[in-house]
Amino acid sequence: MAYIEARKMSFTYPKGKRPVINDISIKVFQKDITAITGHNGGGKTTLGKLLGGILKPLNGSVLICGRNSKDLSLGQIGKKIGYLFQNPSRQIFTSKVEEEILFISRLKKQPMTRAQREMEEILRFFDLYCKKDEYTFNLSYGEKQRLALGAILVNRPEFLILDEPTTGLDKLRKDTLSEYLIELNSKGVGMIIISHDMDFINTHASRRIEVEGGRIIYDER
Ligand SMILES: Nc1ncnc2c1ncn2[C@@H]1O[C@H](COP(=O)(O)OP(=O)(O)OP(=O)(O)O)[C@@H](O)[C@H]1O
Ligand SMILES: [Mg+2]
Repeated sequence: MAYIEARKMSFTYPKGKRPVINDISIKVFQKDITAITGHNGGGKTTLGKLLGGILKPLNGSVLICGRNSKDLSLGQIGKKIGYLFQNPSRQIFTSKVEEEILFISRLKKQPMTRAQREMEEILRFFDLYCKKDEYTFNLSYGEKQRLALGAILVNRPEFLILDEPTTGLDKLRKDTLSEYLIELNSKGVGMIIISHDMDFINTHASRRIEVEGGRIIYDER
């Protein structure tokens, strides 16, 4: 079964005149690393948000694990799908770095010793341990991106949607992210990677979709 399926989906922003997504039907599978590419403004981010259930289609439908995204709350979706926004500042909502990682554990009422251990592991992995007590607004773009991704992973999502995950990362950080994504995928975590970075996509993607003017113009494994 497809992990996410869009059926004849269209979308127009509330103040927009023309549809940004035009009649897209697509099945996305958990075993794949699916890349979404295309020019600026083609609709990649909008498509990602629709497939991740953050936006709901105006026409047609999106099924996530067989359930209509309109019937799922963001909380229910968040337990399944981890979503990294194109702008990580929008995603970070606590003031301290360690708090950002601990937040979900608190929400899930996990024992604090375990949450603390997990937080330290994640910060070490993403090379942010020395920033543990830092204010999040003082982080660089790349650091924010790594923190946002770290925070998503606390939920242990089955599926990731990453919108331009390599934009702020240098070669070393990109390679580390690569290794991590490969490991997650080998453990069965599916992903959609929205990116302009063709090197990164060619290394990772098992399927590439190209979006232009809100339509899929290319789709190949
Ligand atoms: N909140 C919004 N309200 C109105 N129009 C929007 C909104 N967000 C995006 N758009 C428009 O929708 C179209 C597609 O935008 P989208 O962000 O999905 O493209 P993209 O392919 O992700 O672009 P980029 O490569 O720059 O990230 C663009 O024309 C954009 O101006
Ligand atoms: Mg975008």
